[in-house]
Amino acid sequence: LERSRNLTHLMTGCLSGAVIELLQTVGAVADDFLYNAFVVGGFVRDLLLRKTNMDLDIVVEGDGIAFARTLAKKLGGRVREHERFGTATIILHSGLKIDIATARLEYYEYPAALPTVELSSIKLDLYRRDFTINAMAIQLNPAHFGRLVDFFNSQNDLKQMAIKVLHNLSFVDDPTRIFRAIRFEKRMDFTIARHTERLIRNAVKMNLFGKGDDPRFFTELKLLLNEENATPAIERLADLGLFPFLWPDLRPHLNIDRRLRHCLVQTQRAISWFKLLYAGDQYDPWIIFLLAIMGRSPLSVLATFCDRFHVPPKTRALLLGEKQLADQASRQLATAGPPKNSEIHLAFKELRIEGLLYVMAVARKTEVKKAVSSYITKLRHEKPLLGGDDLKQLGYRPGPIFKTILETLLIARLDQEVKTRDNEIALVSQRFPLR
Ligand code: CTP
Repeated sequence: LERSRNLTHLMTGCLSGAVIELLQTVGAVADDFLYNAFVVGGFVRDLLLRKTNMDLDIVVEGDGIAFARTLAKKLGGRVREHERFGTATIILHSGLKIDIATARLEYYEYPAALPTVELSSIKLDLYRRDFTINAMAIQLNPAHFGRLVDFFNSQNDLKQMAIKVLHNLSFVDDPTRIFRAIRFEKRMDFTIARHTERLIRNAVKMNLFGKGDDPRFFTELKLLLNEENATPAIERLADLGLFPFLWPDLRPHLNIDRRLRHCLVQTQRAISWFKLLYAGDQYDPWIIFLLAIMGRSPLSVLATFCDRFHVPPKTRALLLGEKQLADQASRQLATAGPPKNSEIHLAFKELRIEGLLYVMAVARKTEVKKAVSSYITKLRHEKPLLGGDDLKQLGYRPGPIFKTILETLLIARLDQEVKTRDNEIALVSQRFPLR
Protein backbone atom coordinates (compact mmCIF):
# COMPACT_ATOMS: atom_id res chain seq x y z
CA LEU A 1 0.00 0.00 0.00
CA GLU A 2 3.01 2.19 0.14
CA ARG A 3 2.65 5.31 -1.93
CA SER A 4 5.87 6.34 -3.55
CA ARG A 5 6.45 10.00 -4.08
CA ASN A 6 9.69 11.90 -4.27
CA LEU A 7 9.96 14.99 -2.13
CA THR A 8 13.33 16.29 -3.31
CA HIS A 9 11.67 19.23 -5.00
CA LEU A 10 9.66 20.18 -1.91
CA MET A 11 12.75 19.74 0.26
CA THR A 12 14.93 22.05 -1.81
CA GLY A 13 12.10 24.58 -1.80
CA CYS A 14 11.47 24.49 1.97
CA LEU A 15 14.79 23.61 3.61
CA SER A 16 18.03 25.53 3.81
CA GLY A 17 21.00 24.37 1.77
CA ALA A 18 22.75 23.43 4.99
CA VAL A 19 19.94 21.08 6.08
CA ILE A 20 19.78 19.43 2.65
CA GLU A 21 23.52 18.91 2.73
CA LEU A 22 23.25 17.43 6.21
CA LEU A 23 20.56 15.00 5.09
CA GLN A 24 22.67 14.04 2.09
CA THR A 25 25.62 13.35 4.37
CA VAL A 26 23.43 11.08 6.50
CA GLY A 27 22.47 9.20 3.33
CA ALA A 28 26.06 8.89 2.14
CA VAL A 29 27.27 7.53 5.49
CA ALA A 30 24.34 5.08 5.47
CA ASP A 31 25.47 3.78 2.08
CA ASP A 32 28.97 3.19 3.51
CA PHE A 33 27.36 1.05 6.24
CA LEU A 34 25.06 -0.65 3.72
CA TYR A 35 22.10 0.56 5.82
CA ASN A 36 18.89 2.20 4.79
CA ALA A 37 18.50 5.57 6.51
CA PHE A 38 15.40 7.74 6.90
CA VAL A 39 14.35 11.00 8.44
CA VAL A 40 11.05 10.33 10.22
CA GLY A 41 8.24 11.74 12.35
CA GLY A 42 7.45 15.39 13.00
CA PHE A 43 10.05 16.62 10.52
CA VAL A 44 8.31 14.86 7.63
CA ARG A 45 4.86 15.89 8.85
CA ASP A 46 5.89 19.53 9.07
CA LEU A 47 7.70 19.48 5.73
CA LEU A 48 4.50 18.32 4.04
CA LEU A 49 2.68 21.12 5.85
CA ARG A 50 5.44 23.51 4.76
CA LYS A 51 6.35 24.33 8.33
CA THR A 52 9.86 24.46 9.69
CA ASN A 53 10.87 21.81 12.20
CA MET A 54 14.48 21.63 13.25
CA ASP A 55 14.19 18.36 15.20
CA LEU A 56 15.91 15.77 13.08
CA ASP A 57 14.86 12.20 13.91
CA ILE A 58 16.83 9.68 11.90
CA VAL A 59 16.12 5.96 11.79
CA VAL A 60 18.64 3.50 10.36
CA GLU A 61 18.06 -0.14 9.61
CA GLY A 62 21.23 -1.25 11.37
CA ASP A 63 23.39 -0.41 14.36
CA GLY A 64 22.33 3.15 15.19
CA ILE A 65 25.09 3.80 17.69
CA ALA A 66 27.99 2.81 15.42
CA PHE A 67 26.33 4.84 12.70
CA ALA A 68 26.01 7.88 14.97
CA ARG A 69 29.71 7.75 15.91
CA THR A 70 30.83 7.81 12.29
CA LEU A 71 28.31 10.47 11.33
CA ALA A 72 29.36 12.69 14.24
CA LYS A 73 32.99 12.47 13.13
CA LYS A 74 32.03 13.50 9.63
CA LEU A 75 29.79 16.40 10.75
CA GLY A 76 31.88 17.50 13.72
CA GLY A 77 29.84 17.05 16.87
CA ARG A 78 29.44 15.20 20.16
CA VAL A 79 27.58 11.92 20.56
CA ARG A 80 25.48 10.92 23.54
CA GLU A 81 24.77 7.21 23.44
CA HIS A 82 21.83 5.39 24.97
CA GLU A 83 23.10 1.83 24.73
CA ARG A 84 20.01 0.21 26.16
CA PHE A 85 17.71 1.63 23.49
CA GLY A 86 20.15 1.50 20.58
CA THR A 87 19.75 5.25 20.17
CA ALA A 88 22.15 8.18 20.11
CA THR A 89 21.99 11.94 19.94
CA ILE A 90 24.50 13.98 17.96
CA ILE A 91 24.96 17.56 19.06
CA LEU A 92 26.55 19.56 16.28
CA HIS A 93 28.84 22.52 16.93
CA SER A 94 26.03 24.73 15.65
CA GLY A 95 23.82 23.44 18.48
CA LEU A 96 21.57 21.47 16.12
CA LYS A 97 20.54 18.08 17.52
CA ILE A 98 20.12 14.90 15.54
CA ASP A 99 18.49 11.86 17.13
CA ILE A 100 19.48 8.52 15.67
CA ALA A 101 17.41 5.41 16.34
CA THR A 102 17.79 1.81 15.32
CA ALA A 103 14.96 0.08 13.52
CA ARG A 104 15.18 -3.52 14.63
CA LEU A 105 13.26 -6.50 13.45
CA GLU A 106 12.41 -8.01 16.77
CA TYR A 107 9.53 -10.06 17.99
CA TYR A 108 6.83 -7.56 18.71
CA GLU A 109 3.28 -8.70 18.73
CA TYR A 110 0.01 -6.89 18.45
CA PRO A 111 -2.94 -9.26 18.75
CA ALA A 112 -4.75 -7.63 15.87
CA ALA A 113 -1.70 -6.75 13.84
CA LEU A 114 -0.20 -7.98 10.64
CA PRO A 115 2.18 -10.87 11.08
CA THR A 116 5.46 -9.41 12.30
CA VAL A 117 7.55 -11.31 9.78
CA GLU A 118 6.02 -9.38 6.93
CA LEU A 119 7.12 -6.03 8.22
CA SER A 120 10.37 -4.44 7.19
CA SER A 121 12.19 -2.77 10.09
CA ILE A 122 11.28 0.74 9.03
CA LYS A 123 7.66 -0.26 8.61
CA LEU A 124 7.58 -1.75 12.08
CA ASP A 125 9.29 1.32 13.50
CA LEU A 126 6.69 3.58 11.92
CA TYR A 127 3.83 1.30 12.94
CA ARG A 128 4.77 1.71 16.59
CA ARG A 129 4.46 5.48 16.50
CA ASP A 130 1.67 7.57 17.91
CA PHE A 131 -0.34 8.87 14.97
CA THR A 132 -0.46 8.28 11.22
CA ILE A 133 0.59 11.85 10.52
CA ASN A 134 3.79 11.20 12.51
CA ALA A 135 4.44 7.84 10.85
CA MET A 136 6.01 8.86 7.56
CA ALA A 137 9.66 8.68 6.58
CA ILE A 138 11.85 10.09 3.85
CA GLN A 139 14.68 7.90 2.62
CA LEU A 140 18.12 9.51 2.56
CA ASN A 141 20.36 7.02 0.72
CA PRO A 142 21.65 8.69 -2.46
CA ALA A 143 19.90 6.35 -4.91
CA HIS A 144 16.51 6.99 -3.25
CA PHE A 145 17.07 10.43 -1.76
CA GLY A 146 13.76 12.17 -1.06
CA ARG A 147 11.56 9.08 -1.46
CA LEU A 148 8.53 9.44 0.80
CA VAL A 149 7.72 6.27 2.70
CA ASP A 150 4.03 6.23 3.57
CA PHE A 151 2.71 2.80 4.51
CA PHE A 152 -0.39 3.92 6.36
CA ASN A 153 -2.01 6.45 4.08
CA SER A 154 -0.71 9.25 6.28
CA GLN A 155 -0.74 11.78 3.44
CA ASN A 156 -4.49 11.38 3.23
CA ASP A 157 -4.90 11.98 6.96
CA LEU A 158 -2.77 15.10 6.65
CA LYS A 159 -5.06 16.29 3.88
CA GLN A 160 -8.14 15.44 5.94
CA MET A 161 -6.51 17.13 8.93
CA ALA A 162 -7.16 14.03 11.01
CA ILE A 163 -5.35 12.69 14.07
CA LYS A 164 -5.54 8.91 13.88
CA VAL A 165 -3.77 6.15 15.74
CA LEU A 166 -2.19 3.32 13.81
CA HIS A 167 -3.82 0.55 15.81
CA ASN A 168 -6.35 0.00 18.59
CA LEU A 169 -3.78 -0.61 21.32
CA SER A 170 -1.90 2.62 20.83
CA PHE A 171 -3.19 4.28 24.02
CA VAL A 172 -2.85 1.04 25.94
CA ASP A 173 0.81 0.92 24.95
CA ASP A 174 1.34 4.55 25.80
CA PRO A 175 -1.44 6.58 27.45
CA THR A 176 0.67 9.76 27.36
CA ARG A 177 -0.30 9.83 23.68
CA ILE A 178 -3.71 11.11 24.72
CA PHE A 179 -2.08 14.41 25.66
CA ARG A 180 -0.21 14.42 22.38
CA ALA A 181 -3.40 13.87 20.39
CA ILE A 182 -4.95 16.93 22.03
CA ARG A 183 -1.81 18.98 21.59
CA PHE A 184 -1.56 18.25 17.85
CA GLU A 185 -5.30 18.72 17.36
CA LYS A 186 -5.26 22.20 18.83
CA ARG A 187 -1.89 23.28 17.49
CA MET A 188 -2.60 22.40 13.88
CA ASP A 189 -6.35 22.86 14.04
CA PHE A 190 -6.86 19.19 13.13
CA THR A 191 -9.54 16.87 14.49
CA ILE A 192 -9.06 13.69 16.46
CA ALA A 193 -10.76 11.10 14.25
CA ARG A 194 -13.92 9.46 15.54
CA HIS A 195 -12.49 6.02 16.17
CA THR A 196 -9.39 7.46 17.81
CA GLU A 197 -11.53 9.62 20.07
CA ARG A 198 -13.49 6.51 21.04
CA LEU A 199 -10.25 4.76 21.94
CA ILE A 200 -9.26 7.73 24.10
CA ARG A 201 -12.58 7.74 25.91
CA ASN A 202 -12.27 4.00 26.48
CA ALA A 203 -8.76 4.35 27.83
CA VAL A 204 -9.93 7.09 30.17
CA LYS A 205 -12.90 5.00 31.32
CA MET A 206 -10.64 2.05 31.98
CA ASN A 207 -8.40 4.36 34.00
CA LEU A 208 -5.50 3.21 31.90
CA PHE A 209 -2.93 5.63 33.21
CA GLY A 210 -3.37 4.37 36.76
CA LYS A 211 -1.38 6.48 39.14
CA GLY A 212 0.26 8.61 36.48
CA ASP A 213 3.72 7.75 37.71
CA ASP A 214 5.19 7.76 34.21
CA PRO A 215 7.16 11.04 34.21
CA ARG A 216 6.16 11.56 30.59
CA PHE A 217 2.66 12.57 31.73
CA PHE A 218 4.06 15.68 33.31
CA THR A 219 6.36 16.32 30.34
CA GLU A 220 3.42 16.07 27.94
CA LEU A 221 1.20 18.23 30.16
CA LYS A 222 3.89 20.92 30.19
CA LEU A 223 4.16 20.80 26.40
CA LEU A 224 0.39 21.05 26.08
CA LEU A 225 0.20 24.05 28.43
CA ASN A 226 3.07 25.70 26.57
CA GLU A 227 1.34 25.66 23.20
CA GLU A 228 0.56 29.03 21.64
CA ASN A 229 -3.03 29.15 22.86
CA ALA A 230 -3.43 26.52 25.53
CA THR A 231 -7.06 27.25 26.43
CA PRO A 232 -8.75 25.06 23.79
CA ALA A 233 -6.36 22.22 24.66
CA ILE A 234 -7.26 22.49 28.36
CA GLU A 235 -10.95 22.50 27.50
CA ARG A 236 -10.38 19.39 25.41
CA LEU A 237 -8.65 17.73 28.36
CA ALA A 238 -11.79 18.37 30.37
CA ASP A 239 -14.05 17.26 27.52
CA LEU A 240 -12.24 13.93 27.20
CA GLY A 241 -12.61 13.32 30.92
CA LEU A 242 -8.99 13.83 31.98
CA PHE A 243 -9.63 16.35 34.75
CA PRO A 244 -10.43 13.77 37.45
CA PHE A 245 -7.09 12.14 36.62
CA LEU A 246 -5.09 15.36 36.59
CA TRP A 247 -6.93 17.43 39.18
CA PRO A 248 -9.19 15.16 41.21
CA ASP A 249 -10.18 17.99 43.54
CA LEU A 250 -11.65 19.93 40.61
CA ARG A 251 -14.21 17.32 39.57
CA PRO A 252 -16.11 19.17 36.88
CA HIS A 253 -19.47 20.55 37.73
CA LEU A 254 -21.14 23.48 36.08
CA ASN A 255 -19.92 26.24 38.37
CA ILE A 256 -16.34 25.12 38.28
CA ASP A 257 -16.47 24.90 34.51
CA ARG A 258 -17.69 28.45 34.17
CA ARG A 259 -15.21 29.66 36.73
CA LEU A 260 -12.41 27.75 35.06
CA ARG A 261 -13.24 29.08 31.62
CA HIS A 262 -13.17 32.61 32.98
CA CYS A 263 -9.88 31.91 34.69
CA LEU A 264 -8.35 30.53 31.48
CA VAL A 265 -9.45 33.59 29.53
CA GLN A 266 -7.87 35.83 32.16
CA THR A 267 -4.67 33.78 32.10
CA GLN A 268 -4.42 34.02 28.33
CA ARG A 269 -5.05 37.73 28.58
CA ALA A 270 -2.32 38.25 31.18
CA ILE A 271 0.15 36.29 29.05
CA SER A 272 -0.73 38.19 25.88
CA TRP A 273 -0.36 41.49 27.72
CA PHE A 274 3.09 40.50 28.93
CA LYS A 275 4.16 39.15 25.54
CA LEU A 276 3.17 42.38 23.85
CA LEU A 277 5.32 44.43 26.21
CA TYR A 278 8.28 42.13 26.66
CA ALA A 279 8.51 40.11 23.45
CA GLY A 280 11.99 38.74 24.04
CA ASP A 281 11.68 37.80 27.72
CA GLN A 282 11.94 34.14 28.67
CA TYR A 283 9.23 32.67 30.88
CA ASP A 284 7.21 29.47 31.10
CA PRO A 285 3.53 29.87 30.22
CA TRP A 286 2.76 26.35 31.47
CA ILE A 287 3.55 27.43 35.03
CA ILE A 288 1.00 30.24 34.84
CA PHE A 289 -1.69 27.94 33.45
CA LEU A 290 -1.01 25.23 36.01
CA LEU A 291 -1.10 27.70 38.90
CA ALA A 292 -4.27 29.27 37.53
CA ILE A 293 -6.07 25.94 37.09
CA MET A 294 -5.11 25.04 40.65
CA GLY A 295 -5.75 28.58 41.86
CA ARG A 296 -8.49 27.57 44.27
CA SER A 297 -6.69 24.49 45.53
CA PRO A 298 -4.70 24.69 48.74
CA LEU A 299 -0.93 24.34 48.62
CA SER A 300 -1.14 20.76 49.84
CA VAL A 301 -3.12 19.74 46.74
CA LEU A 302 -0.42 21.18 44.49
CA ALA A 303 2.16 19.25 46.52
CA THR A 304 0.17 16.03 46.04
CA PHE A 305 -0.08 16.78 42.31
CA CYS A 306 3.71 17.17 42.12
CA ASP A 307 4.24 13.89 43.95
CA ARG A 308 1.78 11.96 41.83
CA PHE A 309 3.29 13.13 38.56
CA HIS A 310 6.90 12.81 39.66
CA VAL A 311 7.62 16.48 39.11
CA PRO A 312 11.40 16.97 39.50
CA PRO A 313 12.34 18.42 42.93
CA LYS A 314 13.54 21.77 41.59
CA THR A 315 10.37 22.33 39.59
CA ARG A 316 8.27 21.21 42.56
CA ALA A 317 9.96 23.73 44.84
CA LEU A 318 9.49 26.45 42.26
CA LEU A 319 5.78 25.75 41.77
CA LEU A 320 5.06 25.54 45.49
CA GLY A 321 7.12 28.65 46.23
CA GLU A 322 5.38 30.71 43.55
CA LYS A 323 1.93 29.59 44.64
CA GLN A 324 2.55 30.31 48.28
CA LEU A 325 4.01 33.79 47.69
CA ALA A 326 1.47 34.69 45.03
CA ASP A 327 -1.57 33.62 47.05
CA GLN A 328 -0.22 35.49 50.05
CA ALA A 329 0.37 38.64 47.98
CA SER A 330 -3.11 38.40 46.42
CA ARG A 331 -4.73 38.12 49.84
CA GLN A 332 -2.76 41.03 51.24
CA LEU A 333 -3.50 43.37 48.36
CA ALA A 334 -7.15 42.39 48.12
CA THR A 335 -7.99 42.99 51.76
CA ALA A 336 -6.33 46.36 52.46
CA GLY A 337 -7.33 49.64 50.84
CA PRO A 338 -5.42 51.05 47.84
CA PRO A 339 -1.85 49.86 48.37
CA LYS A 340 1.18 52.15 48.44
CA ASN A 341 3.83 51.43 45.83
CA SER A 342 6.19 50.22 48.51
CA GLU A 343 3.55 47.74 49.69
CA ILE A 344 3.12 46.42 46.18
CA HIS A 345 6.86 46.08 45.86
CA LEU A 346 7.14 44.25 49.16
CA ALA A 347 4.35 41.85 48.23
CA PHE A 348 5.75 41.00 44.80
CA LYS A 349 9.51 41.29 44.99
CA GLU A 350 10.22 37.57 45.50
CA LEU A 351 7.92 36.46 42.69
CA ARG A 352 8.91 35.43 39.19
CA ILE A 353 7.04 36.66 36.14
CA GLU A 354 5.01 33.45 36.14
CA GLY A 355 3.79 34.03 39.69
CA LEU A 356 3.01 37.67 38.95
CA LEU A 357 0.96 36.86 35.87
CA TYR A 358 -0.86 34.21 37.88
CA VAL A 359 -1.80 36.86 40.45
CA MET A 360 -2.99 39.08 37.62
CA ALA A 361 -5.04 36.29 36.06
CA VAL A 362 -6.90 35.19 39.17
CA ALA A 363 -7.35 38.60 40.78
CA ARG A 364 -10.98 39.58 41.15
CA LYS A 365 -10.27 43.21 42.02
CA THR A 366 -9.03 45.56 39.31
CA GLU A 367 -6.81 47.13 41.94
CA VAL A 368 -4.80 43.93 42.24
CA LYS A 369 -4.49 43.58 38.46
CA LYS A 370 -3.30 47.19 38.30
CA ALA A 371 -0.80 46.53 41.07
CA VAL A 372 0.75 43.69 39.05
CA SER A 373 0.89 45.75 35.89
CA SER A 374 2.48 48.69 37.68
CA TYR A 375 4.98 46.39 39.38
CA ILE A 376 5.99 44.69 36.13
CA THR A 377 6.23 47.84 34.04
CA LYS A 378 7.67 50.27 36.61
CA LEU A 379 8.17 49.36 40.24
CA ARG A 380 10.36 46.29 39.77
CA HIS A 381 12.97 48.42 37.97
CA GLU A 382 13.21 51.11 40.65
CA LYS A 383 16.49 51.54 42.54
CA PRO A 384 17.80 54.22 44.91
CA LEU A 385 20.08 56.76 43.25
CA LEU A 386 22.66 56.31 46.01
CA GLY A 387 24.76 53.16 46.12
CA GLY A 388 27.20 51.55 48.53
CA ASP A 389 30.06 53.76 47.38
CA ASP A 390 28.03 56.87 48.04
CA LEU A 391 27.23 55.67 51.55
CA LYS A 392 30.96 55.11 52.21
CA GLN A 393 31.70 58.62 51.03
CA LEU A 394 29.03 59.93 53.36
CA GLY A 395 30.98 58.31 56.18
CA TYR A 396 29.04 55.08 56.81
CA ARG A 397 31.01 51.97 57.53
CA PRO A 398 30.08 48.95 55.33
CA GLY A 399 27.99 46.36 57.18
CA PRO A 400 24.42 45.14 57.53
CA ILE A 401 23.34 48.77 57.96
CA PHE A 402 23.93 49.33 54.22
CA LYS A 403 21.12 46.97 53.33
CA THR A 404 18.77 48.69 55.76
CA ILE A 405 19.65 52.14 54.42
CA LEU A 406 19.25 51.12 50.78
CA GLU A 407 15.90 49.50 51.54
CA THR A 408 14.73 52.63 53.31
CA LEU A 409 15.77 54.67 50.28
CA LEU A 410 14.01 52.34 47.90
CA ILE A 411 10.76 52.57 49.88
CA ALA A 412 11.00 56.37 49.94
CA ARG A 413 11.63 56.41 46.20
CA LEU A 414 8.76 54.04 45.44
CA ASP A 415 6.38 56.17 47.48
CA GLN A 416 7.77 59.30 45.82
CA GLU A 417 9.04 60.82 49.01
CA VAL A 418 12.43 61.47 47.43
CA LYS A 419 13.33 62.51 43.89
CA THR A 420 16.88 63.78 43.68
CA ARG A 421 20.22 62.59 45.06
CA ASP A 422 20.13 65.46 47.54
CA ASN A 423 16.71 64.30 48.76
CA GLU A 424 18.18 60.86 49.35
CA ILE A 425 21.26 62.19 51.15
CA ALA A 426 19.03 64.31 53.38
CA LEU A 427 16.84 61.34 54.18
CA VAL A 428 19.82 59.11 55.04
CA SER A 429 21.37 61.63 57.41
CA GLN A 430 18.03 62.27 59.05
CA ARG A 431 17.09 58.62 59.56
CA PHE A 432 20.57 57.22 60.16
CA PRO A 433 22.49 59.97 61.98
CA LEU A 434 26.25 59.37 62.16
CA ARG A 435 27.59 59.30 65.68
N1 CTP B 1 6.33 9.37 19.55
C1 CTP B 1 5.43 8.36 19.84
N2 CTP B 1 4.86 8.25 21.08
C2 CTP B 1 5.17 9.17 22.04
C3 CTP B 1 6.10 10.20 21.77
C4 CTP B 1 6.65 10.27 20.51
O1 CTP B 1 5.15 7.55 18.97
N3 CTP B 1 4.61 9.07 23.25
C5 CTP B 1 6.94 9.44 18.19
C6 CTP B 1 6.14 10.27 17.22
O2 CTP B 1 6.07 9.58 16.00
C7 CTP B 1 6.93 11.54 17.02
C8 CTP B 1 8.35 11.11 17.35
O3 CTP B 1 8.23 10.02 18.27
O4 CTP B 1 6.81 12.04 15.72
C9 CTP B 1 9.19 12.21 17.95
O5 CTP B 1 8.59 12.71 19.13
P1 CTP B 1 8.52 14.25 19.42
O6 CTP B 1 9.79 14.91 19.09
O7 CTP B 1 7.95 14.43 20.78
O8 CTP B 1 7.35 14.63 18.40
P2 CTP B 1 7.18 15.67 17.24
O9 CTP B 1 6.16 15.03 16.35
O10 CTP B 1 8.44 16.13 16.64
O11 CTP B 1 6.41 16.81 18.03
P3 CTP B 1 6.79 18.35 18.19
O12 CTP B 1 6.39 18.95 16.88
O13 CTP B 1 5.91 18.81 19.31
O14 CTP B 1 8.24 18.39 18.51
